[in-house]
Amino acid sequence: MTRLRTPSFPLLLLALLLYLLPVIARREDEESKYQKRDFHTLSNEDIRTLVESEPPQWNSVDEGHLGKLLIPRACEFTLVQNYISSVFTKLGWHEEKTPFRGATPIGDINFTNLIYTFDPSAPRKIILAAHFDSKWFPDFPANQFIGATDSAAPVAMILDLAEFLTPLLEKRKERIRSGQGILKKDFDEEEVAETTIQIVLFDGEEAFKDWTSTDSIYGARHLAELWQSTYLPSSHPLNKRRLSPPPSVLNTIDHLVLLDLLGNKHSMIYSYFRETDWLHSKMKFADERLQHEGLVEVEKNEKEWFGDMRMRGGIGDDHLPFLHRGVSIFHVISNPFPKVWHTLADDASALSLPALRRWNRILRVFSCEYLGLEPSTANAKRTNDELVRIYLFS
Ligand SMILES: *[C@@H]1O[C@H](CO)[C@@H](O)[C@H](O)[C@H]1NC(C)=O
Ligand SMILES: [Zn+2]
Repeated sequence: MTRLRTPSFPLLLLALLLYLLPVIARREDEESKYQKRDFHTLSNEDIRTLVESEPPQWNSVDEGHLGKLLIPRACEFTLVQNYISSVFTKLGWHEEKTPFRGATPIGDINFTNLIYTFDPSAPRKIILAAHFDSKWFPDFPANQFIGATDSAAPVAMILDLAEFLTPLLEKRKERIRSGQGILKKDFDEEEVAETTIQIVLFDGEEAFKDWTSTDSIYGARHLAELWQSTYLPSSHPLNKRRLSPPPSVLNTIDHLVLLDLLGNKHSMIYSYFRETDWLHSKMKFADERLQHEGLVEVEKNEKEWFGDMRMRGGIGDDHLPFLHRGVSIFHVISNPFPKVWHTLADDASALSLPALRRWNRILRVFSCEYLGLEPSTANAKRTNDELVRIYLFS
């Protein structure tokens, strides 16, 4: 992950300054104007249930998913790809890999994006994304770089989230299949389920030399191009009106939420895009309720992780090729970057267990509310028979 580079140093400083200057005016309440989707606010009891749901909270920063990911992951290194693949295969998600060969300053390299979709037949999706590669360095000891916050931890957080969401999504699928989808005021489960969740893990985010528009985000550039030229079949619901150009896979993305540089003690997340200010507010609200309920450990001086003001400009990352093609982006990246950024110190010791647990819980609340999942309903261990009995005898 690198800021966009400009050719001369004073220009770079100026650009950095602009990036860092928050817009003076506080954000107006633009929610109604841009909100494309209802958020289904969870009750405190739901949030408690969700926190206690499987998988259990992490007990260390180098076990489980993190233990598998905290190794150098640069350059045609498939061990980590295979691990990620095994996790999603076990969960039963649809897998798509997009292998391609890219020209880099150190020669041609094989890259592969990893894409997992809970329900590939759903017409729309929210994407949760992170990059799984670590920055490549030519010489020892720099080539031992791990990139714990960049972005092993975000990937591990996404794996934890997928494990948590899968049973809830399965149960909803089962309810809809058996004609028992939940239907209440302002909530039609069948309609809500038309937006599925897709996980995109990008390869080749890092530059091999210095960050430029051609030496960086190899996987994201490839995927955005691929999807732009992949048109939807005529049977697709988004294809009803004969649009020109015809809708492509890019049009099925409601939002792309990109996680990067997270997992250390300190995070400061700003909103960079007016149209997703409201998503930023929802994530902030998730954190506030978790804190209010005492369900997250807040480290010293870390109460506020979400800034109130929108940042002017942005930070160069995997979202850019999608942003430039009109996709709605929520960039969840710590600004300023972690102090260990692109140094050997960005290893397990840079991570904070309370911070990781807090992120996992924030993502659970945020995703459930976005996807309209209620953990208590979905987790109820009652069978249909029991429900019938309760109905008959109560
Ligand atoms: C790169 O991919 C090509 C096929 O596209 C394959 O023949 C080659 O062995 C791969 N190289 C490495 C190092 O994996
Ligand atoms: Zn990086």
